Amino acid sequence: MNPPIIAPSILAADFANLQRDVELINRSEADWFHVDVMDGVFVPNISFGFPVMEAICRHATKPLDVHLMIVQPERYIDAFAKAGAAAITVHYEACTHLHRTLTLIREAGCRAGVALNMQTPVDTLIDIADAFDQVLIMTINPGFGGQKLLPLSIPKVVKLRRLLTEAQSPALIGVDGGIDQHTIGMVVAAGIDYAVAGTSVFGAADPLLAIQTLKKARQP
Ligand code: DX5
Ligand code: ZN
Repeated sequence: MNPPIIAPSILAADFANLQRDVELINRSEADWFHVDVMDGVFVPNISFGFPVMEAICRHATKPLDVHLMIVQPERYIDAFAKAGAAAITVHYEACTHLHRTLTLIREAGCRAGVALNMQTPVDTLIDIADAFDQVLIMTINPGFGGQKLLPLSIPKVVKLRRLLTEAQSPALIGVDGGIDQHTIGMVVAAGIDYAVAGTSVFGAADPLLAIQTLKKARQP
Protein backbone atom coordinates (compact mmCIF):
# COMPACT_ATOMS: atom_id res chain seq x y z
CA MET A 1 0.00 0.00 0.00
CA ASN A 2 1.38 3.45 -0.93
CA PRO A 3 1.77 5.92 1.93
CA PRO A 4 -1.12 8.38 1.97
CA ILE A 5 -0.71 11.83 0.47
CA ILE A 6 -0.78 14.23 3.43
CA ALA A 7 -2.23 17.72 3.01
CA PRO A 8 -1.80 19.94 6.10
CA SER A 9 -4.63 22.46 6.39
CA ILE A 10 -3.42 26.04 6.60
CA LEU A 11 -6.60 26.88 8.53
CA ALA A 12 -4.84 25.60 11.65
CA ALA A 13 -1.61 27.56 11.01
CA ASP A 14 -0.60 30.68 12.92
CA PHE A 15 -1.75 33.46 10.57
CA ALA A 16 0.56 35.92 12.28
CA ASN A 17 3.45 33.64 11.29
CA LEU A 18 2.16 32.37 7.99
CA GLN A 19 5.50 32.40 6.16
CA ARG A 20 7.11 30.43 8.99
CA ASP A 21 4.34 27.82 8.92
CA VAL A 22 4.37 27.53 5.11
CA GLU A 23 8.13 27.00 5.20
CA LEU A 24 7.67 24.36 7.88
CA ILE A 25 5.40 22.40 5.52
CA ASN A 26 7.87 22.96 2.66
CA ARG A 27 10.57 21.09 4.53
CA SER A 28 8.26 18.40 5.91
CA GLU A 29 7.23 15.07 4.38
CA ALA A 30 3.80 16.52 3.54
CA ASP A 31 2.75 16.49 -0.10
CA TRP A 32 0.23 19.32 -0.58
CA PHE A 33 -1.02 22.44 1.17
CA HIS A 34 -4.76 22.29 1.89
CA VAL A 35 -6.31 25.76 1.65
CA ASP A 36 -9.78 26.10 3.23
CA VAL A 37 -11.86 28.97 1.87
CA MET A 38 -15.10 29.67 3.78
CA ASP A 39 -17.67 32.32 2.93
CA GLY A 40 -19.87 32.45 6.03
CA VAL A 41 -22.85 31.35 3.91
CA PHE A 42 -22.18 27.79 2.79
CA VAL A 43 -20.57 27.14 6.16
CA PRO A 44 -21.02 29.10 9.40
CA ASN A 45 -17.51 30.50 9.40
CA ILE A 46 -15.33 32.86 7.35
CA SER A 47 -11.67 31.98 6.80
CA PHE A 48 -9.72 34.00 4.22
CA GLY A 49 -9.65 34.93 0.56
CA PHE A 50 -7.28 35.88 -2.24
CA PRO A 51 -4.66 38.02 -0.46
CA VAL A 52 -3.91 35.24 2.01
CA MET A 53 -4.03 32.57 -0.68
CA GLU A 54 -1.57 34.57 -2.81
CA ALA A 55 0.71 35.03 0.20
CA ILE A 56 0.74 31.25 0.77
CA CYS A 57 1.48 30.70 -2.91
CA ARG A 58 4.48 33.05 -2.83
CA HIS A 59 6.23 30.84 -0.28
CA ALA A 60 4.85 27.34 -0.89
CA THR A 61 6.97 24.83 -2.81
CA LYS A 62 4.23 22.17 -2.89
CA PRO A 63 0.88 22.15 -4.73
CA LEU A 64 -2.02 24.15 -3.29
CA ASP A 65 -5.15 22.04 -2.87
CA VAL A 66 -7.95 24.59 -2.53
CA HIS A 67 -11.18 23.53 -0.79
CA LEU A 68 -13.98 25.98 -1.57
CA MET A 69 -16.70 25.97 1.09
CA ILE A 70 -18.58 28.74 -0.68
CA VAL A 71 -21.84 29.14 -2.56
CA GLN A 72 -21.68 29.56 -6.33
CA PRO A 73 -18.04 28.50 -6.53
CA GLU A 74 -18.18 28.70 -10.35
CA ARG A 75 -17.86 32.50 -10.01
CA TYR A 76 -14.37 32.24 -8.54
CA ILE A 77 -12.67 29.35 -10.36
CA ASP A 78 -10.51 31.53 -12.62
CA ALA A 79 -9.50 33.77 -9.74
CA PHE A 80 -8.36 30.83 -7.60
CA ALA A 81 -6.52 29.32 -10.54
CA LYS A 82 -4.71 32.65 -11.05
CA ALA A 83 -3.96 32.84 -7.33
CA GLY A 84 -1.99 29.60 -7.65
CA ALA A 85 -4.35 26.65 -7.07
CA ALA A 86 -3.14 23.29 -8.40
CA ALA A 87 -6.44 21.62 -7.47
CA ILE A 88 -9.83 23.16 -6.76
CA THR A 89 -12.45 21.20 -4.86
CA VAL A 90 -16.05 22.42 -4.85
CA HIS A 91 -18.92 21.06 -2.80
CA TYR A 92 -21.52 18.89 -4.50
CA GLU A 93 -24.11 20.65 -2.31
CA ALA A 94 -23.06 24.10 -3.58
CA CYS A 95 -23.26 23.34 -7.31
CA THR A 96 -26.46 23.24 -9.34
CA HIS A 97 -24.44 22.35 -12.45
CA LEU A 98 -21.60 20.36 -10.95
CA HIS A 99 -20.42 18.93 -14.27
CA ARG A 100 -20.11 22.42 -15.75
CA THR A 101 -18.17 23.67 -12.73
CA LEU A 102 -15.76 20.72 -12.82
CA THR A 103 -15.20 21.35 -16.53
CA LEU A 104 -14.43 25.00 -15.76
CA ILE A 105 -11.85 23.92 -13.19
CA ARG A 106 -10.05 21.70 -15.69
CA GLU A 107 -10.22 24.40 -18.35
CA ALA A 108 -8.52 26.73 -15.86
CA GLY A 109 -5.65 24.21 -15.74
CA CYS A 110 -6.37 22.74 -12.29
CA ARG A 111 -7.27 19.29 -11.01
CA ALA A 112 -11.02 19.13 -10.44
CA GLY A 113 -12.31 17.95 -7.06
CA VAL A 114 -15.74 17.36 -5.52
CA ALA A 115 -16.39 17.37 -1.78
CA LEU A 116 -19.32 15.49 -0.27
CA ASN A 117 -20.94 16.47 3.00
CA MET A 118 -21.96 13.79 5.47
CA GLN A 119 -25.47 13.28 4.10
CA THR A 120 -24.54 13.14 0.42
CA PRO A 121 -24.35 9.59 -0.93
CA VAL A 122 -21.23 8.67 -2.91
CA ASP A 123 -23.28 7.00 -5.68
CA THR A 124 -24.42 10.40 -6.86
CA LEU A 125 -21.05 11.01 -8.50
CA ILE A 126 -20.74 7.89 -10.54
CA ASP A 127 -22.46 9.10 -13.73
CA ILE A 128 -19.91 11.90 -14.05
CA ALA A 129 -16.86 9.92 -12.94
CA ASP A 130 -14.86 11.12 -15.95
CA ALA A 131 -15.29 14.76 -14.89
CA PHE A 132 -13.30 14.83 -11.65
CA ASP A 133 -9.76 14.04 -10.52
CA GLN A 134 -10.38 13.78 -6.79
CA VAL A 135 -13.23 13.34 -4.31
CA LEU A 136 -13.08 14.72 -0.78
CA ILE A 137 -15.25 12.81 1.68
CA MET A 138 -16.00 15.13 4.59
CA THR A 139 -15.43 13.27 7.85
CA ILE A 140 -16.91 16.15 9.86
CA ASN A 141 -19.51 18.84 9.21
CA PRO A 142 -17.37 21.51 7.54
CA GLY A 143 -16.80 24.99 8.89
CA PHE A 144 -14.33 24.50 11.71
CA GLY A 145 -11.08 22.76 12.42
CA GLY A 146 -10.51 20.72 15.55
CA GLN A 147 -13.63 18.54 15.38
CA LYS A 148 -13.85 14.79 15.95
CA LEU A 149 -14.11 12.46 12.96
CA LEU A 150 -17.64 11.12 12.48
CA PRO A 151 -17.38 7.33 11.98
CA LEU A 152 -20.46 7.28 9.68
CA SER A 153 -18.17 8.66 6.98
CA ILE A 154 -15.87 5.62 6.86
CA PRO A 155 -18.20 3.22 4.97
CA LYS A 156 -18.59 5.98 2.36
CA VAL A 157 -14.87 5.77 1.61
CA VAL A 158 -15.08 1.97 1.24
CA LYS A 159 -18.07 2.25 -1.07
CA LEU A 160 -16.57 5.03 -3.18
CA ARG A 161 -13.35 3.05 -3.60
CA ARG A 162 -15.40 0.13 -4.97
CA LEU A 163 -17.45 2.36 -7.29
CA LEU A 164 -14.39 4.14 -8.69
CA THR A 165 -12.63 0.83 -9.30
CA GLU A 166 -15.70 -0.48 -11.14
CA ALA A 167 -15.86 2.71 -13.21
CA GLN A 168 -12.09 2.41 -13.90
CA SER A 169 -11.70 5.96 -12.60
CA PRO A 170 -8.21 7.06 -11.54
CA ALA A 171 -9.69 9.79 -9.29
CA LEU A 172 -8.12 10.11 -5.85
CA ILE A 173 -10.16 9.75 -2.66
CA GLY A 174 -9.43 12.07 0.26
CA VAL A 175 -10.82 12.67 3.73
CA ASP A 176 -11.09 15.94 5.63
CA GLY A 177 -11.76 16.51 9.32
CA GLY A 178 -10.53 14.98 12.55
CA ILE A 179 -7.56 13.17 11.00
CA ASP A 180 -4.81 12.47 13.53
CA GLN A 181 -2.47 9.69 14.58
CA HIS A 182 -5.42 7.71 15.97
CA THR A 183 -7.81 8.00 13.00
CA ILE A 184 -5.38 7.87 10.06
CA GLY A 185 -5.10 4.06 10.20
CA MET A 186 -8.80 3.47 9.67
CA VAL A 187 -9.12 5.87 6.74
CA VAL A 188 -6.06 4.33 5.08
CA ALA A 189 -7.60 0.88 5.60
CA ALA A 190 -10.87 2.16 4.10
CA GLY A 191 -9.03 3.04 0.89
CA ILE A 192 -8.08 6.73 0.84
CA ASP A 193 -5.30 8.24 -1.27
CA TYR A 194 -4.99 11.51 0.64
CA ALA A 195 -5.79 12.95 4.03
CA VAL A 196 -6.17 16.54 5.18
CA ALA A 197 -4.94 17.31 8.68
CA GLY A 198 -5.07 20.67 10.43
CA THR A 199 -5.08 20.58 14.21
CA SER A 200 -3.11 17.34 14.50
CA VAL A 201 -0.26 18.94 12.52
CA PHE A 202 -0.13 22.60 13.57
CA GLY A 203 -1.32 21.90 17.11
CA ALA A 204 1.40 19.29 17.67
CA ALA A 205 4.50 20.03 19.73
CA ASP A 206 6.51 18.74 16.76
CA PRO A 207 4.57 19.24 13.48
CA LEU A 208 7.30 17.56 11.40
CA LEU A 209 7.03 14.43 13.50
CA ALA A 210 3.21 14.57 13.38
CA ILE A 211 3.35 14.62 9.56
CA GLN A 212 5.84 11.75 9.57
CA THR A 213 3.50 9.72 11.78
CA LEU A 214 0.54 10.34 9.44
CA LYS A 215 2.66 9.37 6.41
CA LYS A 216 3.65 6.10 8.01
CA ALA A 217 0.06 5.06 8.72
CA ARG A 218 -0.80 1.47 8.08
CA GLN A 219 -3.99 -0.47 8.69
CA PRO A 220 -4.85 -0.65 12.40
C1 DX5 B 1 -13.12 22.14 7.87
C2 DX5 B 1 -11.99 22.14 6.86
C3 DX5 B 1 -10.88 21.23 7.22
C4 DX5 B 1 -10.22 21.55 8.53
C5 DX5 B 1 -9.64 20.29 9.07
O1 DX5 B 1 -14.27 22.66 7.36
O2 DX5 B 1 -12.44 21.75 5.57
O3 DX5 B 1 -9.92 21.16 6.17
O4 DX5 B 1 -9.22 22.52 8.40
O5 DX5 B 1 -9.18 20.56 10.34
P1 DX5 B 1 -8.89 19.42 11.43
O6 DX5 B 1 -7.81 18.54 10.86
O7 DX5 B 1 -8.47 20.20 12.62
O8 DX5 B 1 -10.16 18.65 11.63
ZN1 ZN C 1 -10.85 21.36 4.01
